[in-house]
Amino acid sequence: MIIVENFSLKPFNTFGIEAEARYFAEMQSVSDIQIFLNTQYHKRKPKLILGGGSNILFTKDFEGAVIKINTKGILKIKETTDNVFLNVQAGEIWDDFVNYCLENNYGGLENLSLIPGNVGSCPIQNIGAYGVEVKDYIESVELLDMQTLQMSELNNKECRFGYRDSIFKQELKGKVIILSVTFKLTKNHTLHLEYGAILEELKKNEIKIPTIQTVAQAVCNIRRCKLPDPKEIGNAGSTFKNPSVNENIFTKLKSKFPNISSYSQPDGTFKLPAGWLIEQCEFKGYREGDAGVHKNQALVLVNYDNATGEDILNLANKIQKSVAVKFGINLELEVNVV
Ligand code: EPU
Repeated sequence: MIIVENFSLKPFNTFGIEAEARYFAEMQSVSDIQIFLNTQYHKRKPKLILGGGSNILFTKDFEGAVIKINTKGILKIKETTDNVFLNVQAGEIWDDFVNYCLENNYGGLENLSLIPGNVGSCPIQNIGAYGVEVKDYIESVELLDMQTLQMSELNNKECRFGYRDSIFKQELKGKVIILSVTFKLTKNHTLHLEYGAILEELKKNEIKIPTIQTVAQAVCNIRRCKLPDPKEIGNAGSTFKNPSVNENIFTKLKSKFPNISSYSQPDGTFKLPAGWLIEQCEFKGYREGDAGVHKNQALVLVNYDNATGEDILNLANKIQKSVAVKFGINLELEVNVV
């Protein structure tokens, strides 16, 4: 294991923000992680666990150790008539894993195609897209306690998944490292086609009997049209969460803004598309120096070239203020600001 000092994190965050780590070390195995965490010198220092760097906004240099998880491996641990159980190491690239599932005809994750990031990060914010959340296919998550160096496992329920939320963003934040995730995937598939754009895309491609592979292809097509590719333009996907409001507030908003759309939630609240709220505040395609709002999806802030984390954060704050003034709604950041 090599520990590098004053290391540029620019290639390690999809926003492409320049920031330095005081120490940087890549972990190829669980024992690398344990050895590193056991070093007296690093025990006292702040630590940041980095996966694919696709949901992080660096606003300053990191004065401790950045630990990049590179562990690899996909292991079939169980198979039944209906399901297959795969244990996947945290450092596997998410979309490579989705493709592995498609090649082997294991179903469940096809709607989550092309999401940037690593497998180890997917439970943290319970990634979701096109009507599917990863929580529906997670059996368990294997962890390492950063203090005691003990390994443990949480089952699905114990992970307390919610919309872009889990125990890893709450009580366990900064306390554990996700080592691997065990998925329960299908052999006889149930396709999730309720999200309008998917059906339209399948129709456009004249697909009459969809499969997990053609649904994945449809999702990729939609994402490529709407969302910027971090390889071409720095971004971290949705910058904000879609906010929820109660029925009373929603009724008032609807009478003032009849075009507002919403997704009613099982708990009686209404989720509002933050992209729409931001667009109504005329930020879609807006640019301030090298920080901007994507032209096709107002929920995504972008770094055109040399924006700093502060530039992006200032723009995010400006958008939050504007949405609060127009709609009385506080937009919550979805990206992790460091
Ligand atoms: N909309 C606008 N203007 C915009 C963007 C969106 O009016 O600029 C409205 C439209 O009415 C549209 C609705 O918002 O019908 C929903 O838009 P979209 O389908 O693009 O989804 P989203 O709610 O904006 C969420 C996720 C995305 C995920 C998509 C697709 C969050 C925070 N974001 O976005 O996830 O890809 O659904 O399922 O929940 C991510 O988390 O990084 C991410 C990209």
